[in-house]
Amino acid sequence: MATAHIESKLEDIAPIVLMPGDPLRAKYIAENFLDDYKLVNQVRNMFGYTGYYKGKKVTVFASGMGIPSIGIYSYELYKFYNVEKIIRIGTCGSFNKDIKLLDVILSSGAYCKSYFDVLLDGVDVDFIKSNAELNRQIMNTAKKENITLKYGKTITSDVFDLYCDDAERFRDNFPDMNFLSVEMEAFGLFYIANKLGKEAACLMTVVDSLYDKRSLSSEERETSLNDMIKTALESII
Ligand code: HPA
Repeated sequence: MATAHIESKLEDIAPIVLMPGDPLRAKYIAENFLDDYKLVNQVRNMFGYTGYYKGKKVTVFASGMGIPSIGIYSYELYKFYNVEKIIRIGTCGSFNKDIKLLDVILSSGAYCKSYFDVLLDGVDVDFIKSNAELNRQIMNTAKKENITLKYGKTITSDVFDLYCDDAERFRDNFPDMNFLSVEMEAFGLFYIANKLGKEAACLMTVVDSLYDKRSLSSEERETSLNDMIKTALESII
């Protein structure tokens, strides 16, 4: 079986999927965290790998960037490959003073002004929650692993906000300043999951901040990303 964008066999996709944005991060996770893994998709180099984490079958499948891309991959995986849960593991920015670079954030839901929902279903939704049960599992796991998670709302943007000439003007589109993170995919994932009656969650590592301008070493980044990946993997076993 295959879909417009995925060449995998039905049995080669696990019911639980971890979804980084970057295909090479999918490869990194398979190589560093999974046993007996195999490459199950390379259409458009959007790599998917299926393997085992502590005996549990899991697929790591990249989403690409932005709502259109994650919208396609999450739809095809849920709808045609019987996937039940997708945990996005990505990076994000922040313009919240309480959030520091390399904090790991769990999204309670995503706010978005995109046209995606209008085009797909003729509805205009501004905020979609992530799955409460999946979030509970992730929070419990983080506690056990001694990994601090910040839990709160995400802005999903159609533009990479750092490329706006005026960061303050971008921020002023979102007068409720309780948003913890800004990224470009969570709304698409949560919207498709809700539409299809499936589960979705989103973990993010903060790599850009309006208030924290430290430059990060690659070692610091890797440690924080590994914490996030470990939290996601431990929460599905
Ligand atoms: N904004 C949007 N998406 C992102 C960012 C950001 O600053 N960093 C990583 N993904």
